Amino acid sequence: MKKITIIGGGNLGSAIANGLIESGLPPEQLTITRRSISALEKFKNIGVHITNNNKEAVAKSEIILLCVKPHKTEIILNEIVSKINNQIIISTVTGINIETLQSFFPKNKNIFRAMPNTAVAIKESMTCISTNSTDNLAINYVKKMFKNLGEVIMIEDSLMASATVLAASGIAFALRYTRAAMQGGIEIGFSSEIAQKISAQTMKGAASLVLMEGNHPESEIDKVTTPQGITITGLNKMEHEGLSSAIVQGILASQKKIKNL
Ligand SMILES: NC(=O)c1ccc[n+]([C@@H]2O[C@H](COP(=O)([O-])OP(=O)(O)OC[C@H]3O[C@@H](n4cnc5c(N)ncnc54)[C@H](OP(=O)(O)O)[C@@H]3O)[C@@H](O)[C@H]2O)c1
Repeated sequence: MKKITIIGGGNLGSAIANGLIESGLPPEQLTITRRSISALEKFKNIGVHITNNNKEAVAKSEIILLCVKPHKTEIILNEIVSKINNQIIISTVTGINIETLQSFFPKNKNIFRAMPNTAVAIKESMTCISTNSTDNLAINYVKKMFKNLGEVIMIEDSLMASATVLAASGIAFALRYTRAAMQGGIEIGFSSEIAQKISAQTMKGAASLVLMEGNHPESEIDKVTTPQGITITGLNKMEHEGLSSAIVQGILASQKKIKNL
């Protein structure tokens, strides 16, 4: 099993670390870095190496996962460049494309971008991956690594911003629907805890019907909309209030924002 370093053990880096360990990576194969290493105590306690020395961590690893904020990326890449040979480099950083990453490491042939979402922590991520690597062994290794953390799709690098919106921001969009359903649920009689359970499990069930049966959402909707019935009455009211339009416009607004970063 290859040694992995996660540079930037924040929200995403920690979620990936949890997912990797849960999927069987021995903790001693993993190093996590950040400046305030006291925040990584829980990983240290289970045998993960923790350090604030990025260069040292990179030199000892075969896979490097970059999980830092975009504005920190250039400084960190310059810091580690002397320790990079042909390790597999996977960047999760929003807005920095393969071409730019490659310019830091011109000789490296294994540069990847991965756009997971925070469901990596429970191995339910939707991760989009892009690369210019032609090394099938490396490509399959990276795919398998993220397949252990959920679902994986290979996409063109030019679609990475769209993947960020639909999959990474998408977690927040889906959760806001869940919260709204809870608010409605409370108004029609449920306690907050029970409304949460019903709304979240219903969302999970609806998603599973689409994923497992491969059906278009509208064909599943047809199954629950009786003519002049309760569901179509509620659904049409939601549409009159702009449900689908609000979601599409929100996605387009996020896309516009990310393109202008
Ligand atoms: N969160 C998501 O759902 C998600 C999804 C897909 C992609 N992304 C991308 O993933 C990246 C990280 O996002 P995040 O939400 O995890 O941010 P975050 O929680 O702020 O984590 C970034 C981490 O980087 C560490 N860091 C800063 N400077 C460092 C340095 N010089 N060396 C090592 N570590 C350093 C920070 O810790 P210290 O301050 O202690 O150093 C912090 O814990 C971003 O580029 C984001 O766009 C996020």
